[in-house]
This record gives sequence, C-alpha cells and structure tokens, in this order.
Amino acid sequence: MSSLASPIVQIEAVVKSYANGASVRALDGVSLTIAREEFVAVQGRSGSGKTTLLNLIGTLDQPTSGRVIVSGTDVTRLTGDALADFRRAHIGFVFQMFNLVATLTALENVMLPLLPYQRRLKFNLQARARELLSEVGLASRLQHLPGQLSGGEQQRVAIARALINGPELILADEPTGNLDSHSGAETLRLLQRLNRW
Ligand SMILES: Nc1ncnc2c1ncn2[C@@H]1O[C@H](COP(=O)(O)OP(=O)(O)OP(=O)(O)O)[C@@H](O)[C@H]1O
Ligand SMILES: [Mg+2]
Repeated sequence: MSSLASPIVQIEAVVKSYANGASVRALDGVSLTIAREEFVAVQGRSGSGKTTLLNLIGTLDQPTSGRVIVSGTDVTRLTGDALADFRRAHIGFVFQMFNLVATLTALENVMLPLLPYQRRLKFNLQARARELLSEVGLASRLQHLPGQLSGGEQQRVAIARALINGPELILADEPTGNLDSHSGAETLRLLQRLNRW
C-alpha cells in the first residue's frame, strides 16, 4: 500500500549478482532507507555498484534477493504493465548522457513521456511542459533541438522531462558526468532546489 507516511525508498538486504560468465556480486546485502524530501548522493569507486543500486530503486532491474520498497510498494513483486505504470506514476530519471531525442524540440522532449497518455491527463501537457522548462531557466529555448543547446541546457531539458509526471522520486545517475564543472554545479543546485519545490 502506498502511503505518504512511508519512506520514499526502503531497501532490505538486497543482493544483486550478475551471472554472465564470471559471476559478479555487485550488491552484497544492502539495506537503506531514504525519507521523503531527502537529497541523497551515492559515492563509491567505479564498479562499486552505484548504477546497479539506482537501477534497482528505479525498478529498471530486479534484485537477486531482498526487497526494494518504493513509496510503500514492494516493486520486486511488480511485472509488465504494472511495473511500467508504477514507474510512470512515481519516478523520474535523469541520465548522464541526457538521452534527449535529437529530432524533437526541447518542448516536445519534455512532453514525450506522457504523450501517449495525453488524452487521459487532467492537465494540459504542453502548458505543463512550458512551465517546467521555464522553471529550469529555458523559457526562451522551447523550440530548440538538443543539438542547438549547450550540454548544461540539454541536461536541464532532461530534468524538466523527468518532472513531467510529477514524480515523488527523482533518480539521477551521474547527471553532471558530461558537463563542465560550472554547468555541473548549476545542475546540482537546480536538483537541490527542485527537491524543495
Ligand atoms: N549487466 C551486467 N552484467 C554483468 N556484470 C555487470 C553488469 N552491470 C554491472 N556489472 C558489474 O557489476 C559491478 C557494479 O557495476 P555498476 O555499474 O553498478 O558500478 P558503478 O558503481 O555504477 O560504476 P561507475 O562509477 O563506473 O559507473 C561492476 O563490477 C560491473 O562490472
Ligand atoms: Mg555507474
């Protein structure tokens, strides 16, 4: 059951092994609780399992054993459409490589995740996308293609896109990894500000 009182993320004794060729135990009994409105950074050397952990929390992958509870729901029990619906209702993703669609404008990229559901929405999708782009400082870049934007601007479009479904949880895997230190610091400040929004 989803409940506002529950932590946003609760991980219990999670093990994740990859078994192609030599078996790798990427996570070896991880337990962790993240409260709502908390802003958490995961640090560790390359290969220590940070992306693996984020993918499990983001329901993009399943643990070998243990439980992953997001917003009160044990997501290890969800499959197929239920999993996709859960993700769309609760989670926003920001990636290191931005992952914008090169042939779509900034505005269209932000609308994209909800475009197939547009007719069912209780709000105007394009108006919401404009508002979010304005919130990340890109009100004057709505019609730009990704290739016409700086790296920092592309990442801000990607952050606006991650917010389009009003997620309770934003997951960002090295969101500043492809940015210079100035744009990287700005992106982090933006994420922190949005966390309090
Ligand atoms: N799909 C996979 N199949 C097999 N092994 C994998 C797979 N994905 C990750 N691994 C292994 O699991 C371990 C953890 O990988 P992960 O990507 O989570 O590390 P990371 O902390 O995100 O590293 P980085 O800082 O380089 O991004 C690594 O040793 C990696 O080689
Ligand atoms: Mg990684």
